Amino acid sequence: MDRRKVTMIVLFLLCAIADMQAAGQTLDVCATCHTNAICDDKTDGSGKVCNCMYGFVGNGRTFCQDKDECQIGAKRICGQHTSCHNTYGSYYCTCLSGYSPSNNMATFIPNDGTHCQDIDECRVPGLCGVGGHCRNLEGSFECSCTMGYRVQGVEPFHPQRDKASCEVVECGQPPSVRDAVLLSATGTRYGSVAMFDCDEGFLWRRGDNASVCGADGAWEGPNMVCEAKCGPVPLLANSEVVWNDRSVVIHRCVDGFHSWRGSNASVCGNTGMWHRATLTCIEIKPAINDLIVFNEKCLQWKAEKYEEDTEVYKVMYIGSREYQRAFHDKRRRFLSSRADRLQLCLNLLPVTNYSISITAVSARFTATVTTNTSLQVPEAPVVHYREFETPLPTLRLRRSVNTLDPISLYQVFVLPVEGIMIFDCTSPGSADFSSRRTSQGEYITAQIHVTHVGTEMNFTVGDGLYYGGFLNAALENGRNYYIILRAVSQWRGAFKSSCVLWANVRGTSYVMRVSSLSAGASIGLVALVILGGYCCTWFFKKT
Ligand SMILES: *[C@@H]1O[C@H](CO)[C@@H](O)[C@H](O)[C@H]1NC(C)=O
Ligand SMILES: *[C@@H]1O[C@H](CO)[C@@H](O)[C@H](O)[C@H]1NC(C)=O
Ligand SMILES: *[C@@H]1O[C@H](CO)[C@@H](O)[C@H](O)[C@H]1NC(C)=O
Ligand SMILES: *[C@@H]1O[C@H](CO)[C@@H](O)[C@H](O)[C@H]1NC(C)=O
Repeated sequence: MDRRKVTMIVLFLLCAIADMQAAGQTLDVCATCHTNAICDDKTDGSGKVCNCMYGFVGNGRTFCQDKDECQIGAKRICGQHTSCHNTYGSYYCTCLSGYSPSNNMATFIPNDGTHCQDIDECRVPGLCGVGGHCRNLEGSFECSCTMGYRVQGVEPFHPQRDKASCEVVECGQPPSVRDAVLLSATGTRYGSVAMFDCDEGFLWRRGDNASVCGADGAWEGPNMVCEAKCGPVPLLANSEVVWNDRSVVIHRCVDGFHSWRGSNASVCGNTGMWHRATLTCIEIKPAINDLIVFNEKCLQWKAEKYEEDTEVYKVMYIGSREYQRAFHDKRRRFLSSRADRLQLCLNLLPVTNYSISITAVSARFTATVTTNTSLQVPEAPVVHYREFETPLPTLRLRRSVNTLDPISLYQVFVLPVEGIMIFDCTSPGSADFSSRRTSQGEYITAQIHVTHVGTEMNFTVGDGLYYGGFLNAALENGRNYYIILRAVSQWRGAFKSSCVLWANVRGTSYVMRVSSLSAGASIGLVALVILGGYCCTWFFKKT
């Protein structure tokens, strides 16, 4: 109860006593006053009047009810930032939250000079939590996050109402830096510092070696530049780098090349210079290149090898013949050489299909080539030229066995002597020689397959027998003849022959002497020219 009310109650009691003293004489007006009224003298002095006490409204006698002073508005009655509280017969004021009364009491009544002033909540430290920044507002405050902190919620916020807070920014693990290593880190949060140093084999060139966790959650820096101590990685021809830590580099030959010699590692030395790898990469080529056959029996190739190395070549060749199934010319040769270009002539047999393989022994590489040898002029048998005066001369020959025997034969030609005679040994002739005698009248009198001839043979001209389908007809009496022996080899259209003059058969009319070549007295000249023959030209004189 405030003082004013107490005063009023005291006044009321005094009035009641006065009223009681007046009772009985006159109508005691004061006695009719409402309990919440006081008896006052009328202003004109004409008596008493009941007035409702302060805080009450009514007629003073029958009713004095509480007056709600707050009804007219707290702002008007209590002032700014207040709330008004009505009480029975009175009222009081309090400040709104966020304000405090200037009298430092919980309540006040207006007119005592008290007003409500803003409270600076931010004076209380830590109100916004760690990383929070407090801002005082009229009657309130708000929080926001300081640099390096992020709000969990929306900003600005009120810690209790919004259930928001500030959280420190996290940068995560310090960055990995090219050519550098992490030395230390004070943490991973905002403001943490990570220190770096150049990696082994690198030198610091410029820039800062610290990285700081920034407000944006990212590591900032370091901006240091380390270049390799020894500069760029050395490059070797035809090689690639398979491993590189800037102080040691391992090289390897690229595809298609192989390492020949030298070390495959470049090392950065203390002087800042590379000790370069000495690796040499050379193109992988077959050890034997461009293998060709020339002149039928000779080989030529390029060697692919290390400069001074000696390579051993194994040359194997196998000859086969379609016309001689049993034939196998299988031989082998070794050859060692340092040369880059090689030539080798082999002792190959004629009319043979050869398959030749050359193996570079140390390189373990084999190249193969084929060559088909051609038909050669056959060797004529050995004969002794003789002169006969018989129509049945027996001629002899001796020969050496030859591998071409299966495709060789002997033909015995009879040439009647007539003036100058030309005998073409190289003419293939026809099997039907006898029926197609030339103007000179020469004919084949016998054809004998060489395989049917031993090393020696006796042949009698004019014995009337058939030899190889040719009639060995009797020589005409009185005529002179030359007998020519032709050796023939043929295979698949290839034809080679050689001729020898075998004998001179004299009839009765002429006498021919080979020995009279230089004799003076001549009757006439007889000349025999054998074209392509073993023996070339014979001149005889008629005697
Ligand atoms: C890098 O950081 C280390 C450690 O703090 C320091 O000792 C060094 O001097 C720094 N180096 C450079 C080049 O800044
Ligand atoms: C070589 O081979 C060819 C083709 O196979 C063949 O026609 C020819 O007769 C053969 N030569 C010999 C001498 O065997
Ligand atoms: C050489 O003979 C071989 C068989 O050994 C054959 O394949 C090839 O065709 C022949 N070459 C010639 C030019 O005849
Ligand atoms: C050839 O004839 C001679 C002399 O008559 C004789 O000695 C020789 O044995 C004969 N040769 C052959 C193979 O018949």
